[in-house]
Amino acid sequence: MPINYQSESKTFVISNKNISYSFLINSQGLLQHIYFGKNIGSFDYSSLIDLGWDWTKTYLDKDDIEKINNDYYNDRSLMELSPHGCNDKRGAPIVIRYSDGTRQTNFKYVSHRIYSGKPILTNLPSSYGAQKDVTSLEIVMIDDEKKVKCLLTYSIFERLDIITRNMTLSPIEDSGIKVLRAYSMELDLPNSNYDLIHFCGDWCQERYFDRTVLHDGTIDISSNYGRSSHEENPYFILADHDASETSGIAIGFGLVYSGNFSFKVNVSKWKTTRVLFGINDEDFEWNLSADLICPEVVMSLSLNGFEGLTHNFHDFVRNNLIRYKNKDVKRPLLFNSWEGCYLEFNTQTIIDYIDSAKTIGAELFVLDDGWFGSRNTDDRSLGDWYINENKINLQKVIDHCHQKGLKFGLWFEPEMINPLSDLYKKYDNFALGSKKTIRSLSRHQLVLDTSIDEIVDNIFYQMCEILDKYDIDYVKWDHNRSIGEHISSRTNYGEVYHRIILGTYRLIDQLNKRYPSILFEGCASGGGRFDLGMLCYFPQIWTSDETDPIQRLFIQYGTSFAYPLQTMGAHISKNKMTDYLTKGAIALFGTYGLEMNPCKLNSRERKQIKEINKIYHRYHQTVISEGDFYRLLSPFETNYCSFMSISKNKRKVLVMFINILKENNRYRFLKLRGLNPHKNYRLKNDGKEYSGAYLMEIGINLTRWLEEFTCLLFILEEVHKVGGRE
Ligand code: GLA
Repeated sequence: MPINYQSESKTFVISNKNISYSFLINSQGLLQHIYFGKNIGSFDYSSLIDLGWDWTKTYLDKDDIEKINNDYYNDRSLMELSPHGCNDKRGAPIVIRYSDGTRQTNFKYVSHRIYSGKPILTNLPSSYGAQKDVTSLEIVMIDDEKKVKCLLTYSIFERLDIITRNMTLSPIEDSGIKVLRAYSMELDLPNSNYDLIHFCGDWCQERYFDRTVLHDGTIDISSNYGRSSHEENPYFILADHDASETSGIAIGFGLVYSGNFSFKVNVSKWKTTRVLFGINDEDFEWNLSADLICPEVVMSLSLNGFEGLTHNFHDFVRNNLIRYKNKDVKRPLLFNSWEGCYLEFNTQTIIDYIDSAKTIGAELFVLDDGWFGSRNTDDRSLGDWYINENKINLQKVIDHCHQKGLKFGLWFEPEMINPLSDLYKKYDNFALGSKKTIRSLSRHQLVLDTSIDEIVDNIFYQMCEILDKYDIDYVKWDHNRSIGEHISSRTNYGEVYHRIILGTYRLIDQLNKRYPSILFEGCASGGGRFDLGMLCYFPQIWTSDETDPIQRLFIQYGTSFAYPLQTMGAHISKNKMTDYLTKGAIALFGTYGLEMNPCKLNSRERKQIKEINKIYHRYHQTVISEGDFYRLLSPFETNYCSFMSISKNKRKVLVMFINILKENNRYRFLKLRGLNPHKNYRLKNDGKEYSGAYLMEIGINLTRWLEEFTCLLFILEEVHKVGGRE
């Protein structure tokens, strides 16, 4: 059984063949953490929770002033749900303000149950799994004041080395209780010799890899932008100092949430580490009159470095998170109009684009921004989701597209409003912020207050009018600014951020359910909302507005740690100086598409695009979309970047190698990983046969002149033996 309760020692063990996670109920009814690591079978954990000699214990025991357990002291013990307002100053996951103003928060065990399957969260995105694959543990805890119930849920996805945890707080009696902090996860570790790896950046620089050594005190990483943000991502890793791609212990943490998040990593004076992860508590004050469901945290532990974590997370996202009904069907080769014509088009321009896009292999044509309201410039019409008839005859365009055999997609930015819009003229209080003070514009727009049902419904019905009337196969869902002033006309200040994202989830969920065949792609000025929450609704997300392939190396490299290639929108675009083969080789390691003025392509460029398309059609589904991904060389550490993806059956392989600065004929070999050492592979580039063992131990010979940005794409296929045996 993957989850066991040993009643004598009151110990829970959550484990599979690789990993084990355990904690106990101590004599005070608190949950005390024991171990998270490699599964080493059962062991005597008493030495793990031995606190050594402690004057407080001796003193208190001697005088019998307070009963304390030999193995627990709240300043030093490892906890699962530590109390707030006591000796433990490492930071507690939950802080409640009671009606008398006190905040001492302490939850004690009441009951538990273990069952097969995985509960789905209401109103929040969450993972799913079949009963045979997942086992769950629910623990009911009640606070000392007997006013709040806390339901902690753990689920183990046995085949993936993944454990999820989430938490729901419910009022036992409604007596003016405010929740000031509700982190979904606390993990205490007995040591502090770890590195923290997080993924940070900016617009056009999303999810850059950053590694730092933990130090005494707290590292606090968060987003308070109202979305998961370009600046930080709700995914991070704690790893041994010497952990690498292929070795060492690494623990990955992801939050299934798209709003403000925070993770705190505290190293105490005792050199223990506490990790908290969940909704950012900045400006958070929740009136606990009904359940507060907190987002799910996904944890994985790898005994073989970052690569193991990546494989676990990629499989988990593909199989247990994305809900889109056609998620396992090959995605159509997408052409997007944005970088070709921006807002400057008319019916004829788009018809010409469609004709031309067809000739370079497009299967889905996406009309980006500019088709609605009076959107001829980017300062107007967000909120007016009806056709800009002076500019475009949408029916004609869609008919033409379908006649040509292409699917058709449309851009929306549903959560925004321009002051220059019909919606704003009618309802200026739909925007967040107070007109009495200031509402800062960004890209000429304000954020709609999706914490209010009526506003969500307004946008929902407007979108339905378009999606019901026209035959639309794809929607690009954009979000082009972060939240500034977060004052709502109706929602309490401390609840706005979270309720905004709940409203957004409701809007997307309703549309997903009403149009289950539409492929939704997420976007937020590129990759400003690339997270596990959005992936529940959007099976792919535009990774970044940066389409320069060299910059993209860094972005796709960082993004790949948690998120599978099939979720990363990556296009060959007109931008920057490399040729289309280089752009294509990098875009192939994502959800491949095209984005330029197709009418202006010369014959060489067309030829190059078609060459890449062929590779896409032959290898995308099995190798990129469903396969295992390896980061062979890091652009953050070397002059090179190399990606490799291999089909699950280990027969087909794509490898991209690129250098950044020019190099002469230096002696160098590129070692592959994940091949079958006993099989032979034909390297299509030189026509020669190599064994898997050779390619992994010696590698592909790259001793050659490399101009700056020389990009090589290697294709390997397993050699089938004569007689059909492989
Ligand atoms: C954002 C997106 C782009 C494009 C524009 C349109 O910046 O990231 O891809 O859709 O909006 O305004």
